[in-house]
Amino acid sequence: MTIIATMIPHSRPSIENEDIQAATEVLRSHHLAQGALVEQFERGMAAYLGLAGGVAVNSGTAALEVALRVLGIGAGDEVILPSYVCAAPWLAVQRVGATPRLVDIELETFSIDPAAVREALTSKTRAVIVPHLFGLPAHLTALERLGVPLIEDCAQTLGALEQGRPVGSAGLLTVCSFYATKLICAGEGGMVLSRDEALLERARALREYDGVPSLNPAATNLKMTDLQAAIGVAQLERVASFLERRVWLAHEYATALKGAGVVQPIVPAGRSHVYYRFVVRVPDVLNNHDGLGEVIARFEGCRVQCRKPVFRSLHRYLGLEGFPASEEAERTALSIPLFPALTDEEVAQIVTALRSEWS
Ligand SMILES: Cc1ncc(COP(=O)(O)O)c(C=O)c1O
Repeated sequence: MTIIATMIPHSRPSIENEDIQAATEVLRSHHLAQGALVEQFERGMAAYLGLAGGVAVNSGTAALEVALRVLGIGAGDEVILPSYVCAAPWLAVQRVGATPRLVDIELETFSIDPAAVREALTSKTRAVIVPHLFGLPAHLTALERLGVPLIEDCAQTLGALEQGRPVGSAGLLTVCSFYATKLICAGEGGMVLSRDEALLERARALREYDGVPSLNPAATNLKMTDLQAAIGVAQLERVASFLERRVWLAHEYATALKGAGVVQPIVPAGRSHVYYRFVVRVPDVLNNHDGLGEVIARFEGCRVQCRKPVFRSLHRYLGLEGFPASEEAERTALSIPLFPALTDEEVAQIVTALRSEWS
């Protein structure tokens, strides 16, 4: 097998003729700002998740902030979120003036731990942000039993099922991200979705300041452009094939790693996985937070770019203790490149690199 000279990146969007044509049509139309295509994308995403509607904004982080504001969450309120996630949910809680309460994850699934959420509940708890990490739904059924409003963060997971229903369909509000590497990409972008029309109306009032009956100090300009939405619409039409390819690639990697000394992604009963990331746990790395560095360097030698899937657990930025599963995940979790645009040659090279590292 010939080794591809250029590095296989950790992620690369699937940009095809359909996307280029959709973007070109918007450019030719001279209507670039939020317009008919944003509405079409909102309707399409809502239909995909089985919800009443969506409100497109310019990032997933903005969508989280809007979701919190829609629920009237602010100073004096507490919002629970996992430590093992990117900083976006924590930032959104901070920006609305509420207090983030970090909890640990379940190591096997990397998902927010419902038992830890139960322990963190207080009379001030107003919502739980539930990220579905790496393509696997969190334990929604257990979280729903706690009786607190859930904000489902679907930035990393779309189309996966929990107890037969799609992720994103259970929370009071759902947020998505359409950043360049996401399951559906638009360059940047986000969306707040819900089955409750009144909540959606409030979200609409927060994303723009013009053409409204009164001045709203919480409103700002968070609008998505028709150019982004056109790409989103074109991507949404192909999402089923993207997810199918992801599941197939995961199967290839899992087969290559059979019997190897790494912990493979698990799929608990009642859930399905769409493999936004293929994350293994490498048990024998050095017992510090840079232990994966050597493994990543060896993969780079094979021209395969692997990454830590979460840069740093939030509690470590804040100097907090008592998050053993997040610590262990951060120390040992490694993300292998998995995206639909991988060529067969690239897949073969990744499989060879996996075997040479671990068999
Ligand atoms: C779980 C999760 N939530 C929210 C976000 C924020 O999305 P965006 O980058 O579009 O602001 C991300 C982004 O990577 C994410 O992974």
